[in-house]
Amino acid sequence: MANKIKLQILEDAQAVARAAVAVLAEQVHQRPDAVLGLATGSSPEATYAELVRLYREEGLSFARVRSVNLDEYEGLDGDHEQSYRHYMQKHLLGAIDIRPWNTFLLDGMAVDMAAECRAYEERIRALGGVDLFLLGIGTNGHIAFNEPGSAVDSRTRLIELSEATIEANSRLFTRADEVPRRALTVGVGTIMTSRRLLLLATGESKAGAIAAAVEGNVGAQCPASFLQQHADCTFLLDKAAAAHLSR
Ligand code: GLP
Repeated sequence: MANKIKLQILEDAQAVARAAVAVLAEQVHQRPDAVLGLATGSSPEATYAELVRLYREEGLSFARVRSVNLDEYEGLDGDHEQSYRHYMQKHLLGAIDIRPWNTFLLDGMAVDMAAECRAYEERIRALGGVDLFLLGIGTNGHIAFNEPGSAVDSRTRLIELSEATIEANSRLFTRADEVPRRALTVGVGTIMTSRRLLLLATGESKAGAIAAAVEGNVGAQCPASFLQQHADCTFLLDKAAAAHLSR
């Protein structure tokens, strides 16, 4: 099957953020009640900061937008500084006019995880699906928390994090034993149902994962490689993240 990923290689992380914001703002203009899929991590931070600026200074309204997030750590409630709910409130959702009841995240404290995951899939369906999903990528090729080994048709579930991911995330926690070892994540199959995908990657630490995702064989060894089969997926890369690409 032909590789359909569209690539934009930009000067630096700021240029990546500007390009991402242009796509997101256009989506909201086009459909004010768009369903946006949102990611956490350092990659989208500058993008969110710019969206907040557009809201404050240029009147971009999110009043009718609905949002769903990719993933959440198991065992952290929304008040925990490292929870993704906390991250989203701080960097975007708490700083724009989106209605709190239109923002959806997986609940890492759910008593029945299987029921939580089923309800999340049902929620996405009830919203009419995701118009545009923003993604980052892990150094091991994960998207959301779909670690290597995740199937193309995987759905929202509780997943064991790989040692590489636990190691990468430990920089954000004060103690190693605090770092969650499991997380709730939408599946690769859930992501693939989004009408558009926008993956952001910056910095040389992502270059290997980007090359595997864009030019490697499609398979569970690099979950991001499944994006080659999506009809409308764009990667926004800075030069460092694109450094290992041959084309
Ligand atoms: C985390 C998140 C992913 C994110 C990735 C990259 O593990 N679950 O959704 O894309 O890591 O994060 P960063 O952008 O900080 O490099």
